[in-house]
Amino acid sequence: AAAPFDVAHVPPADRLTTAVRTDRMRHPGFGRVLTEHMVTIRWTEDAGWHEARLRPYQALEFDPATVGIHYGQIVFEGLKAYSLADGRVGIFRPDAAARRLQRSATRLAMPEMPTALFTSAVTELVRADRAWVPAEVGKSLYLRPVLMATEADLDLRPAREYLFLLIAFVTDNFFPGELRPRTVWVCEDHVRAAPGGTGEAKTPGNYAASLLAQEQARERGCDQVVWLDAVERRWVEEMGGMNLFFAVGPEEAPRLLTPPLRGTILPRVTRDSLITIASDLGWSTSEEPISVEQWRRWADGGSLREVFACGTAAVVTPVGTVRSAAGDWTVNGGRAGPLAARLRTALLDVQHGLVPDRHGWMVPV
Ligand code: COI
Repeated sequence: AAAPFDVAHVPPADRLTTAVRTDRMRHPGFGRVLTEHMVTIRWTEDAGWHEARLRPYQALEFDPATVGIHYGQIVFEGLKAYSLADGRVGIFRPDAAARRLQRSATRLAMPEMPTALFTSAVTELVRADRAWVPAEVGKSLYLRPVLMATEADLDLRPAREYLFLLIAFVTDNFFPGELRPRTVWVCEDHVRAAPGGTGEAKTPGNYAASLLAQEQARERGCDQVVWLDAVERRWVEEMGGMNLFFAVGPEEAPRLLTPPLRGTILPRVTRDSLITIASDLGWSTSEEPISVEQWRRWADGGSLREVFACGTAAVVTPVGTVRSAAGDWTVNGGRAGPLAARLRTALLDVQHGLVPDRHGWMVPV
């Protein structure tokens, strides 16, 4: 049974005025405009999940010998709450985030948080920070759950104590002006994930390991890195913190392709949602390996309509130009295309309650 929430630690009145909040929410960026509350839940071998607390946002203290800090036994999630057309607030697919957190935790030998406890944590936080959910379409409240090993004992084995943390921030998007096509660098000298590794877990090490290549991409005038498979350095895996989609065929009946999940790619909830939305639109979709040569041949031969990336933070972002050791090419003449825009709008329409939620993705708070 889920531990009941202790909300006694929340002060009765919010600290900020509406005017201050409104001002901060105007240009929120990504991860800067944090809300006034947070959730913490503890796990120990003896007590399981306990001490579920909604509390004011505050700094935390850790023992310098904390396992998570030394050995990276940490997993996280990313999901969003949106203003709905009927005036309520809805959280997008919290059950999917809960399941992925469980899978990531299992991979890092950590305890699984029950879906009901996860969902009540996000619901409690969004209720407490309701005033921070932006009203505009495209803006949202980003929820960032983290599970970390907190035991202070540096023996190398799975910790016996964990802390679940949940914070939230206002965001317009990871990329400002999100439909500006991106220029991407196909990275051949570093890899993000190898077969049997942690690529499909959402764990900070994957992100830390990507930063050097991301810097190298920037030095080459690119916005993002496209990762290839570790073995042949030939198959497209993902891009930055996003999954990639390739659209081929006629505009009225496009075929949408995305690399299959074989353990090295993060299975994003946006990826899964776009596959469903594309099928709803009558487009054909398939998960199949796509090589860099194929990408270039499609682009050169004119059969590639669009390429775009997706994720919770980025939503849907077109790829316009590709740079690689073997040369450069463009997709759709380097312009944003209608297919990515249609999918993005269709997804945001569901997330803001502007169309019927036929798959039951929105959980009202
Ligand atoms: C997300 O899409 O929510 C992510 O986690 C990517 C983020 C690290 C920028």
